[in-house]
Amino acid sequence: MTKLNCVDLFAGAGGLSEGFKQAGFNTIAANEIENDFSKTFKLNHPEAKVFTEDIRNISVKDFQKQCGINGIEVDVLIGGPPCQGFSMAGRRDPKDPRNSLFMEYIRFVKELKPKYFVMENVPGILTMKNSKGKLVHEIIESEFRKIGYQVKHKKLLSADYGVPQKRRRVVFIGTRTKKPISFPKQTHTEKPELKINGFQTQSWLGVETILLDKTDVPESYFHSKKMINGFKKRKEMNKKKGNGFGWQILDPKKPSYTISARYWKDGSDALVKYTETQIRMLTEKEVARIQTFPDDYQFYGSKRSVYTQIGNAVPVLMAKAIAEEIKKYLV
Ligand SMILES: C[S@@+](CC[C@H](N)C(=O)[O-])C[C@H]1O[C@@H](n2cnc3c(N)ncnc32)[C@H](O)[C@@H]1O
Repeated sequence: MTKLNCVDLFAGAGGLSEGFKQAGFNTIAANEIENDFSKTFKLNHPEAKVFTEDIRNISVKDFQKQCGINGIEVDVLIGGPPCQGFSMAGRRDPKDPRNSLFMEYIRFVKELKPKYFVMENVPGILTMKNSKGKLVHEIIESEFRKIGYQVKHKKLLSADYGVPQKRRRVVFIGTRTKKPISFPKQTHTEKPELKINGFQTQSWLGVETILLDKTDVPESYFHSKKMINGFKKRKEMNKKKGNGFGWQILDPKKPSYTISARYWKDGSDALVKYTETQIRMLTEKEVARIQTFPDDYQFYGSKRSVYTQIGNAVPVLMAKAIAEEIKKYLV
């Protein structure tokens, strides 16, 4: 039997594609604007043709031609347009998703006509409004309906799928078929041994399951005394202002905080603390594990680029759970 295929837009390092691959899909084509990210993608998905270009500059016809997928029916179109697209628009209403990268995604759905699509985004998308006070996600969903797709969305938490990280993502799934749309059941819960609808779940994975041994972490990942004092001051200042955090220390027994694309700066999203003076960032290998990339996944580029690619990604096991759910309706 031929494998189910997918096309990945805004593909980054390929977290989504890796999850789909692990569920038995084959990514046949991808698009990404950044060279380093594309190289990472190609290293790990040699079966896919990657078109490295700003999506706004390419026609779907050119994409199909460049990637050699002309005439191939696409099973699932996957991808997460970055939400900065709103501010990039610069037209009449910068918050109108019709002016943003979402419209590029919709353009590809309209022309490639995949049986299903999966569009991932940050939870903030659910409360964002355009300048006329209309909810952005409702505008997006109505644009999909206009081109013949029924669509549903759900907020998922990565720890619920065996990822040692609490990362929340909104997933839109759409289909032009008469088949159902459903979201994966959680396999892991905060409390151990919980039965949900008769299904036995496991407990969330603590970050200790992926940490390197202290002796294997190079000195350069440890913060200086000056840096640690800086974090403490920042935390106090933020507390006075009544907002946010200055740094976050990991609890080894619990899933990690979300690793952002800015992790490379100082690692303040999620730090490992041994003593008051021994505090360090996570290594690239550890953040990749937190995102459930396999240990042999290769990342191309500078340290900064690699952290960014990993921080941008959809956790592989969460993507796999979504893929398995859709696969049920395609085989
Ligand atoms: C959220 S990340 C994708 C993460 C990816 N799905 C994964 O799981 O690894 C969004 C990606 O969109 C890319 N991107 C941003 N603007 C783009 C554009 N105009 N054309 C193509 N890709 C773009 C970024 O470089 C980034 O890699």
